[in-house]
Amino acid sequence: MQYHGEAVDAPRRAEPFHEEPGVPNVAVKDGAIAAGAHAIVTGGSSGIGLAIAKLLAARGMNVSILARNVERLATARMAIEQERRHPSQRIACQAVDVAEREPLEAAIRQAIGELGAPRVLVASAGVAAAGYFLDIHPTAFERTMAVNYLGTIDAVRLVVPDMRAAGGGHIVLISSGAGLLGILGYAAYCPTKFALRGFAEALRPEAKRWGIGVSIAYPPDTDTPGFHEEECTKPPETRKICKTASLMSADAVARAVVRGIDRGRFSIAPGWPMTLLHRATTPFDGVIARYLDWLVGARWPRGAAR
Ligand SMILES: NC(=O)c1ccc[n+]([C@@H]2O[C@H](COP(=O)([O-])OP(=O)(O)OC[C@H]3O[C@@H](n4cnc5c(N)ncnc54)[C@H](OP(=O)(O)O)[C@@H]3O)[C@@H](O)[C@H]2O)c1
Repeated sequence: MQYHGEAVDAPRRAEPFHEEPGVPNVAVKDGAIAAGAHAIVTGGSSGIGLAIAKLLAARGMNVSILARNVERLATARMAIEQERRHPSQRIACQAVDVAEREPLEAAIRQAIGELGAPRVLVASAGVAAAGYFLDIHPTAFERTMAVNYLGTIDAVRLVVPDMRAAGGGHIVLISSGAGLLGILGYAAYCPTKFALRGFAEALRPEAKRWGIGVSIAYPPDTDTPGFHEEECTKPPETRKICKTASLMSADAVARAVVRGIDRGRFSIAPGWPMTLLHRATTPFDGVIARYLDWLVGARWPRGAAR
C-alpha cells in the first residue's frame, strides 16, 4: 500500500511527559502518523482511545474505531469526523468485543478491507474491576484478563501481517500506572496491565525486525467515563493511593501518546508522578534492552531482516 507522506507538524505544546530514550525502537519512513494512512483504535469510542482517535484524525489519518456499544460508536465517529483535516478522510467503526477472537478477527479484516493496511494500532479497550480481593468474583479476574490482555494480544496478532507487508508501522498498548505498581484494590486489574508490559518488552525486538515500532503507555488516573464508573467500586485505600497522582485529562494523555509515537518512544509515562514511578521501577530498562538487542542481533544469521 502507498502511504501519502504529507508532512504534518507534530503538536508542539509542552506537556509533562516522560521521554525514556533508552529502549530502542524502529520508525517507519516519514513517521507512522501519516496523512492518508489507516489507524485502528480499539476502545476508540470513549475516553483515552477516543481522544487518541481524534488526534490521529486531526493529523490526517483514516481511522477505524472498535468497541461494543453501537450508539457510542456512532457518537464517537461523528466527534472524530469533526477533527478531520480533510473531508475525504474516512472514519469507520466496528462493533465488537475484543475478548471474542473470531468476531474480532472479522472486525479487523473488515476495517482493513475498508481502509487498507493499518499503519498505527492503538489498543486502548480495557476494563477495571476494583475491590478487595475476596470480594472480586472469580469470573471478573478472567474477564479483565480476556479484555485487557488477550484482547490486546489478538488485536496485535491480527494487524501485524498487513502492517508488516505494507512496510511497517507502530503499535501502542495502553497499560496503566497500575502496570508499574501493585495497588491494593486492583488485584484483578494490575496483573492484566503488568502482563501488557511483559508482552510489549517481548514483542519490541521481534517487531523491530518487521519494521514495526512498539510503545507501552502508563497513564495515571484519567478523567474518562470509565474512570468515573470505576470510582464507585474503588475501596477507600485504592482512592487514597490513586490520589497521590493528580487526575489527567484524556486529551493530555492522548497528546503524550501521540508524541510518543512521533518520537518512537517505547515507554510513555504521562505526567510527573508516572515519570517518577516509571524511573523508580525500571531504572535500567534501556541498558538491558540494548544489551538484549545486541545479544540477539549478534546471533542473527548474516543478511537476516531486522
Ligand atoms: N481512565 C483511567 O484512569 C485510566 C488510567 C490508566 C489506564 N487506563 C486504561 O486506558 C484504557 C481506556 O480507558 P478509559 O478510561 O478511556 O475507559 P472508557 O472511557 O471506559 O473507554 C473504554 C473503551 O473501551 C471499550 N471497551 C471496553 N471493553 C471492551 C470490549 N470488551 N471490547 C471492545 N471494546 C471495549 C469501550 O467501549 P464499549 O464499552 O462500548 O465496548 C470504550 O470505547 C483502558 O485500557 C484502561 O485500562 C485508564
